[in-house]
Amino acid sequence: MEIRRAQPSDRKAVMALVAAVSEGDYIPYCWDDWVDDTATGISLVARLDHRLVGIAHVHFLSKRVAWFQALRVLPTARRMGVGKALSQACLDYSARAGRQVARLLIDIDNHASRSLTAQAGFSMIAEWLRLEKATGPVSAPDIEPPKQEQLPRLVELAQANGVNLWHTDWETYDLDVEALSISLRNGTLHVLADSPTATMLDISYDEEDEEYRAYNPVGEPMAVSQIVQAMESAAYERGLPRIAVLLAADSPHLPTLQQLGFEFAVINTGNGDSMIDGVTIWEYT
Ligand SMILES: CC(C)(COP(=O)(O)OP(=O)(O)OC[C@H]1O[C@@H](n2cnc3c(N)ncnc32)[C@H](O)[C@@H]1OP(=O)(O)O)[C@@H](O)C(=O)NCCC(=O)NCCS
Repeated sequence: MEIRRAQPSDRKAVMALVAAVSEGDYIPYCWDDWVDDTATGISLVARLDHRLVGIAHVHFLSKRVAWFQALRVLPTARRMGVGKALSQACLDYSARAGRQVARLLIDIDNHASRSLTAQAGFSMIAEWLRLEKATGPVSAPDIEPPKQEQLPRLVELAQANGVNLWHTDWETYDLDVEALSISLRNGTLHVLADSPTATMLDISYDEEDEEYRAYNPVGEPMAVSQIVQAMESAAYERGLPRIAVLLAADSPHLPTLQQLGFEFAVINTGNGDSMIDGVTIWEYT
């Protein structure tokens, strides 16, 4: 098996692979930028018997952390070690580039990927469960982006609440001023206008699911309740039918969200079984 940096000329085979794996994948929207970007990461392709059989992408979130994503193996080439080899190549590349931590996200019900990731030496560091709610007209306080100079106070707030990861732009950063600045630049970081350091929420719009989504609010229950209601109000005004919040399994904000009418999203896992939807975060150090 050959694993190498992806080239623009691989595009057609990569798109065919992605289409063969699943419908509606996000990778076609990012791939060209990833291949062009040789400064903050790498896209890899795996080839076997002159066929492109797998892809993976590494993005450096900081000097410390590398984020792995987009691991895909052609259905006809599975269980032949391609995923394992690509994961190892991502780890080798990140280590050579001086990153101390590799981190990635796996859907809670993706047993194949969880098993591969555990076998590669990663540990699960977080499990975030999905709560959702149909939107309605709610009265809520104003929200706005914080000022850059308020970010250190927001980092302190998170630390005081024991929250040390920040999920924005589909990636999970160490929660620090740099990560919040990325949220701020993306226009997704929000605080209460009249109490800007009481809570914060990264509110992203998911085009495919037509919803506003946020991860792990921090702060006192009252402030969290207000900012989540403001998120609902904004979603309702935009005509979005639903909002979702992903919460750490042991989050103290679960009762707050349930009082607001949020319910766990349940997914069918086949054979009549079901489980709470969510994501898991894994780290290799
Ligand atoms: C997950 C995926 C990348 C695995 O790729 P792969 O090349 O088949 O994996 P490998 O052959 O390297 O398997 C390595 C290990 O992963 C685990 N594994 C892989 N597929 C598995 C499956 N279907 N069920 C259970 N464990 C599985 C096993 O532990 C396996 O080791 P083993 O074969 O010695 O038992 C592939 O199934 C895939 O592309 N899935 C769809 C996309 C996806 O879910 N990507 C990951 C997003 S986070």
